[in-house]
Amino acid sequence: MAWLTIDREKPIPLIRQLFTELRANILRGDWQAGQKLPSTRKLAEELKISRNVAVDAYEQLYAEGYIESRQGSGYYVSAGIYLEQHARHGTDAILSISEASTDSTTSTIDFRSGVPALELFPRTTWGKIVQRVCQDAPLSAFGYGRPEGRLELRQVICRYLYRTRGVQCRPEQIVITSGATQALTLIAKVLLTKGSSVVIEDPITQDIQTIFKATGAVLQPVPTDDLGLVTEQLPGTEAHPPSFVFVTPSHQFPLGGTLPIQRRLQLIRYARETDCYIVEDDYDSEFRYDSAPISSLQGLAEERVIYIGSFSKILSPGLRLGYLVLPTELVERYQNAKWFSDLHTSTLDQLSLATFIEEGHLEKYINRVKKLYRKRRQTLVHALERTFSETRGFRILGASAGLHIVVSFAGIHFTPELLEKLSDAGVRVYPVEEHAICPGRHTDKLIIGYGNVSEEKIEEGVKRLYSVLSF
Ligand SMILES: Cc1ncc(COP(=O)(O)O)c(C=O)c1O
Repeated sequence: MAWLTIDREKPIPLIRQLFTELRANILRGDWQAGQKLPSTRKLAEELKISRNVAVDAYEQLYAEGYIESRQGSGYYVSAGIYLEQHARHGTDAILSISEASTDSTTSTIDFRSGVPALELFPRTTWGKIVQRVCQDAPLSAFGYGRPEGRLELRQVICRYLYRTRGVQCRPEQIVITSGATQALTLIAKVLLTKGSSVVIEDPITQDIQTIFKATGAVLQPVPTDDLGLVTEQLPGTEAHPPSFVFVTPSHQFPLGGTLPIQRRLQLIRYARETDCYIVEDDYDSEFRYDSAPISSLQGLAEERVIYIGSFSKILSPGLRLGYLVLPTELVERYQNAKWFSDLHTSTLDQLSLATFIEEGHLEKYINRVKKLYRKRRQTLVHALERTFSETRGFRILGASAGLHIVVSFAGIHFTPELLEKLSDAGVRVYPVEEHAICPGRHTDKLIIGYGNVSEEKIEEGVKRLYSVLSF
């Protein structure tokens, strides 16, 4: 079927591509009213796609009225679908614009960090669970719910966290949020006012700085090194006590360090002496490549730590699902804050996720994607080492975990002009300096995310990086 083209490299699902191609044939009049469509089996064989893709594309055409089904005989083009020449040009123009824009985005290799492998999202399993939950959920699931979220989900998260992260908690200590971002916003609302102080890793995600600063709080940056927060440089305990210390101890963002136990204990001692909380952002700790995931800080000091978890990296950021694990005395204040914010997170999404975890799909999925990330990480590290081993001051940091690494090129400053040159060469990389609170220390470092970049593109991206940096 030479008239149908399917491009596996395009970031458009195959079902959508096939549907669009078939629809274009019908609109152009290449397929006339009453004409029989090939069987889904034949179509799948010819295009070397799964039969489900063909069935789904036909069902979409059927649902939108382009084709009709005749009992036991297959699908036929519906009557009156032909679009005249004038409109046809319009359609072509729209298609070519959307393709052009897709092409231009695919031709640039984007090493944005924190994006998981979107193409691996378990659509079929998730879809079946959503359907099942929708059929079986009690009536209460369709009404207003509790701000802390469904007990079913809080119970499975509790068991999951204990098993995988050593987090000690009861379901009553959990509040379900719309991702870690909402958890951070709720923390800011409950614990910060104008003039509050937050001790925080430097560098740290720009967005997190913005969320805390929006309350009028003052950030007290503490430098991070290859191991994470440099606890020796925490402010003196006699200084104005902070409301909390913010850390990413499993995998510092962006530098990638893992906080060693000695520093963890020092941090806990500091929090006890200053009577403040520790906010532990555990955004991607499942992905460790050289050892088992590191136990949480929360498990060492349940009464001091506010633990943030997210399903954005281990499943999909589009789901917007995360949670807070709170010391008991804070629970009620966070339930109120969540209620004020958006009443509660979507109940059907919560129940679907609970089922997904309970039936073992999450851990199976994590194991599957971890293999892929390990390969992508290896490809990236090898390509960088091969290409830049002769470059003075070249160093890779934080490669043992997560979905990104940091590369330092001593002597090179990643100015906006240099980043633009890289972008013009078709490779998008992100400067660590963008996340610095005290400027000037990290101008030679780049964040390179690999979670959502194929091995082929990683190789090509490193070549493009070299083409600019070698001059
Ligand atoms: C350190 C860190 N915390 C939290 C988040 C936010 O995650 P979410 O998508 O769950 O809001 C991110 C996003 O990349 C992150 O890098």
